[in-house]
Amino acid sequence: MTTTESPTAAGSGTAATEKFSQERVSADTPPERLSAIATDVLDALAQIVDKHGITYPEYRVLKQWLIDVGQYGEWPLWLDVFVEHNIEEVAYRGQSGTKGSIEGPYYVAGTTSLPARCTLPMREDEAGTRLVFEGQVRDLDGNGLSGATVELWHADDQGYYSHFAPHIPDGNLRGTIEVDEDGRFEITTVQPAPYQIPTDGPTGWFIEKAGWHPWRPAHLHLMVKAPGKRTITTQLYFAGGDWLENDVATATKPELILDPKPGADGVDRVTYDFVLDPAAQ
Ligand code: BEZ
Ligand code: FE
Repeated sequence: MTTTESPTAAGSGTAATEKFSQERVSADTPPERLSAIATDVLDALAQIVDKHGITYPEYRVLKQWLIDVGQYGEWPLWLDVFVEHNIEEVAYRGQSGTKGSIEGPYYVAGTTSLPARCTLPMREDEAGTRLVFEGQVRDLDGNGLSGATVELWHADDQGYYSHFAPHIPDGNLRGTIEVDEDGRFEITTVQPAPYQIPTDGPTGWFIEKAGWHPWRPAHLHLMVKAPGKRTITTQLYFAGGDWLENDVATATKPELILDPKPGADGVDRVTYDFVLDPAAQ
């Protein structure tokens, strides 16, 4: 899909909600566990209402805002900004491989399969500084994992994602890279720009009214898989970039920062290796 329409909160929100809803997710949560969690959530809410003396007008505004978030399709956005980082930290417990980070709402499965040395699909006139990103996928003992795949997706030089912004062709700056026999890859792409939460929808209103800022630092998204290994979902950031120290989604980690430098050909290059834990038994 390529059009000249500019992205709107409702447009990208609807696309994210439709994509998520198609998955029809499930979790094996027994009633006792659900009851314990729900009781804690309601107790926490009761304490907040009491502590801040929440008024009826504030309660009604909350109701309206919750309705708006649903109507704009922004639940995937809001939850992934403010809650996913906590879930991710719990999910990483007990692992020792590469650190994870949030998936966010803009992952698309089944992207173009690419060889170990490749260029991500991009527009002929794709704006942005060229970046060569290379590395190796290994197990905890340092062995290269030949059957691994590296799914990479990221925003463009304006901070927009394909599939969620109507002016960008589907599949742009997305791919599934099949590593070589030593687990190595070398991907040419462009450096993404920082990402701004859409300001024309209820997540943006909420951030503005609270006097916060709507920015995430520039980042690459990665999902790294190998047979018999635990899949890593993570992000890589850029040293010295804006918003690195105060990401609205609280998803940066010191272990996940790249520092590209110009290679002999003048093009920025950076190496990052991924280490996968064994799959859970
Ligand atoms: C992102 O990583 O692009 C993202 C994360 C959370 C909410 C929105 C976007
Ligand atoms: Fe992102």
